[in-house]
Amino acid sequence: MDNNNDIIITTKGITKKFGDFIAVNRVDFEIKKNETIGIIGPNGAGKTTFLNLITGHFLPDEGHVFFNGKEITKFSTVKRVSLGIVRTFQLVHVFDNLSVFNNLALAYYRRKKGKPLPLGIFFFTLNQPSMMEDVKQSIEMFELGDIEDEMVGNLPLGSKKRLELAMAFAEDPNVLLLDEPFSGLSDHEIDEVITVLKKYTHNKTILIVEHKVSKLTDFADKLAVMHEGSIISYGKCEETLNDPEVRRCYWKVT
Ligand SMILES: Nc1ncnc2c1ncn2[C@@H]1O[C@H](COP(=O)(O)OP(=O)(O)OP(=O)(O)O)[C@@H](O)[C@H]1O
Ligand SMILES: [Mg+2]
Repeated sequence: MDNNNDIIITTKGITKKFGDFIAVNRVDFEIKKNETIGIIGPNGAGKTTFLNLITGHFLPDEGHVFFNGKEITKFSTVKRVSLGIVRTFQLVHVFDNLSVFNNLALAYYRRKKGKPLPLGIFFFTLNQPSMMEDVKQSIEMFELGDIEDEMVGNLPLGSKKRLELAMAFAEDPNVLLLDEPFSGLSDHEIDEVITVLKKYTHNKTILIVEHKVSKLTDFADKLAVMHEGSIISYGKCEETLNDPEVRRCYWKVT
């Protein structure tokens, strides 16, 4: 199936063990281009570990990972980022003592030059018209206009998360992986993040691990349920949630 042009990521039998414990157990998975896929499952089900196997933060003990049909199982994280496999890092790439605008400009600079840069040079290049245009567009898409001059350290978590997403999209990812992007946010802040995410669904491939199922099903094309290291169900959101196996293992109803 990996020569199918619609499929961007394939995993075949990937397994990750920690000692004797099998965190991810022979997972076969396919992600189609431009789909938004939600992954749910109880704590410890293996969701983060599965994401880390796709990004290369862990290498599998068994199995294979493919990107556009090409095997990338042994590729480093850096090499995968260069292919456009990008994940967010819970705000660690956001600079608290720079403004929203400058944080975004840094993200665009990183993409253009492929590396971080000394801050002195950064401020020197900041006024380049092409960079200004990209940053302005991004500020509009992510509804950051009201706070573009604010120091990031002074912002509430919801605004920081929108900035973090804007910075991830600035890298023009082919596959964006988000691990619990709504954690710590109020209902209102979650809805604001979803509003901007929706602008990218159907144009970007997004894999998103979340516990807030009702928020996920609002915009995900498909849902996968992980349980004890396995994907026990994967398909359209409603069908997956009504799958008897999911009802038994995840919702604990019969
Ligand atoms: N680096 C590690 N060393 C040892 N065990 C680990 C490591 N990372 C994860 N585990 C174990 O593997 C299992 C799966 O962890 P993982 O973080 O993938 O779960 P998760 O589905 O993301 O859970 P949560 O919803 O709580 O984030 C857990 O039992 C966890 O304790
Ligand atoms: Mg996790």
